Amino acid sequence: MSERFNRITPEILAELREAVGAGNVVAEDADALESYASDEAGIMYTSMPEAVVKVESTEHVSAVMRIATRHCVPVTPRGAGSGLAGAAVPLRGGIVLSMERMNRILEIDPVNRVAVVEPGVVTNDLCKAAAARGFLYAGYPMSTETSFIAGNVATNAGGGRVIRYGSTRRHILGLEVVLPSGSVLDLGGRIRKETWGYSLMHLVIGSEGTLGVVTRVTVNLEPLPGRTINLLAAFAELDSAVAAVAKVVRAGLPVVSCELLDRVSADMAASHANAPLPCQDSTDAYLLVQLEGDSEERLDDDCERAGTLCLDNGATEVFVAESRTESAAVWGLRQNITEAMRARDPYCSLSGDIVVPLSAVPEMVGEIRRAASERGIVVAILGHVADGNLHPTVFKPEGMTPEEWTDCAEAYYDDLTAAALRLGGAGSGEHGVGYVKMPIFLRSKSPEELEIMRGIKRAFDPMGILNPGKMPGEGPVL
Ligand code: LAC
Ligand code: ZN
Repeated sequence: MSERFNRITPEILAELREAVGAGNVVAEDADALESYASDEAGIMYTSMPEAVVKVESTEHVSAVMRIATRHCVPVTPRGAGSGLAGAAVPLRGGIVLSMERMNRILEIDPVNRVAVVEPGVVTNDLCKAAAARGFLYAGYPMSTETSFIAGNVATNAGGGRVIRYGSTRRHILGLEVVLPSGSVLDLGGRIRKETWGYSLMHLVIGSEGTLGVVTRVTVNLEPLPGRTINLLAAFAELDSAVAAVAKVVRAGLPVVSCELLDRVSADMAASHANAPLPCQDSTDAYLLVQLEGDSEERLDDDCERAGTLCLDNGATEVFVAESRTESAAVWGLRQNITEAMRARDPYCSLSGDIVVPLSAVPEMVGEIRRAASERGIVVAILGHVADGNLHPTVFKPEGMTPEEWTDCAEAYYDDLTAAALRLGGAGSGEHGVGYVKMPIFLRSKSPEELEIMRGIKRAFDPMGILNPGKMPGEGPVL
């Protein structure tokens, strides 16, 4: 606990209960608090909150922020806790501000093609509500069944459709944001262009709960695609699968997704789902490609061309999902891959998230393997390969203590980040910095960039009470 902040006293708890209702404040119950002490970064990254406040409205959030500011108590905003970098972990104790009860879809506006939602709406619930009105919400993080929309905003989440539709930033038109002072900012709206001062909305997107608390989100909706088709190409060599990606992308096909699964990740996903993938024994890597289009005939032709391109570039076989059920099964397997890995090794490090230009992916894959074999650790390589975004996931060797393992995984990602930067990329494509990547983040940014970020942080949060220990960092102190 940092001395910069005050601990939560019975008087502060009474003020919180008065502001949001006693039923919305959890304290003194260690078991209940513990579920808010970590996120999907894993059990190595845990810190207990002193209280959890479950807000129901913007007014609640303002009231809590005013109390926290008055007493100098840290506040860590939390969505579904599905983040992989520890952004929702309350490093300095204090209040976890949970958005789980602000989960209403307020409006689907067909004329302006937007939806207006509360922060705790589950991503897939928004997708379903939009689809029922003939629209697509194009965000598709792999955690779509659990993640909250404001969590997507907090990390600028990516996922499986970025090559076609972009990351979360591209889907956000408006945000309501509560500042640490309790004031409410209304940023953007139902408009599609704006050049009226600095875009504070875009600063908040990707800021991982360090600048303000998002209390309402206006998202862009796309027309629903007529039809999608999924194909799975099996390759005997990982390198050929990787090399084939640029060919598929360059062919001008309507590619929505292009996912890479190497042998290690495919085996884990298949055994967790108890559903073997085709050709599993002779396959070193798969590409899962989704295409979309309005004309059935044209889409079949495009699918044929994508399959031929894969076969001409090293695929041994190509399978086309024949039905919705088959498509859902293969995407379900992909979506649940982190769960499969966690089930295999509770200490596995899921935060690997480097991104490089597409042309540098083959070299990056070589670096990922080299750095793992130098350390004698097993790595699974998967990711949104057409975006150049790879998730190298590493597993704790038997006999290594959790502490040794945390250092080993950090040194591994440090090497990979350096390689990604050398290749013109970045340390994270979509998971964010959180605090798992904080030391690496600080080492990889220039002093000038960090100073500008600190200035932005001070402008939004002069006392530094929002999600302390995260961006732009004083470094993790537990
Ligand atoms: C995924 C997460 C790890 O792509 O981002 O499955
Ligand atoms: Zn991902």
